[in-house]
Amino acid sequence: MALTIRHIQNCHDHGQPIVALTATEYTLAQILDRSGVDLLLVGDSLAMVALGHKTTLPVSVEEMLSYTRAVVRGAQRALVIADLPFGSYELSPEQAFGTASRFLREAGAQGVKVEGGSPAMAETVAFLVERGIPVLGHLGLTPQAVHQLGGFRQQAKTPEAAHQLEQTALRLQEAGAFALVLEHIPDEVAAHVTQKLAIATLGIGAGPHCSGQILVTHDLLGLTEHCPPFVKPVLDLKTMIHEAIVTFSQQVRSSS
Ligand code: KIV
Repeated sequence: MALTIRHIQNCHDHGQPIVALTATEYTLAQILDRSGVDLLLVGDSLAMVALGHKTTLPVSVEEMLSYTRAVVRGAQRALVIADLPFGSYELSPEQAFGTASRFLREAGAQGVKVEGGSPAMAETVAFLVERGIPVLGHLGLTPQAVHQLGGFRQQAKTPEAAHQLEQTALRLQEAGAFALVLEHIPDEVAAHVTQKLAIATLGIGAGPHCSGQILVTHDLLGLTEHCPPFVKPVLDLKTMIHEAIVTFSQQVRSSS
């Protein structure tokens, strides 16, 4: 049976760690789904790992919808959440609802992720949730704000910034977010925020004390050239594919 956001809350309530990964296409989504991943995120990091952009900013709503449809076709069990791309939701709650509803209606996603937790963004989260759209929040290093943050840098490093992150997390919880991604913040800050919240946290470069972990699958499998410092790839798939293709090429060229 397909998982829902209630599964994420149940895992958190029972101290059962949540496994979340990004997915960008049908075949891999099927494999991840059958491997028991709880949540598949069609992350806008696909702008970088699938489309070759330097940041997540250029990916369009139409591109994200297309990738989401493919992942939804591959996922039978996992909860599928799609990132709202940069520029498609920040203007107003109405703009966000217009975009988010397309991901549920046209692509079959079960919810959306938005970045940031300003009072205006919390208002948007509440607006979506009140209209039946589950929202996953995202705090800490929010890649859509890379230029504002001055690069892909660790966040919440000072006591003041950590306190602000905690307040922002509570605001998003109050607005109705079903869980929060905490990206690239000190372990102890993530642990503290997780303790303060009643909803689940999914850490990425945020230590082991979140309710679960989320990674970009390309990074985990060792496919990306430049992996973030906090990822320990479980495979070197880049080299394995390279070697397999060299072997195939030799077989072809020697007519064997
Ligand atoms: O876009 C993405 O893949 C993400 C994850 C890194 C959480 O937001």
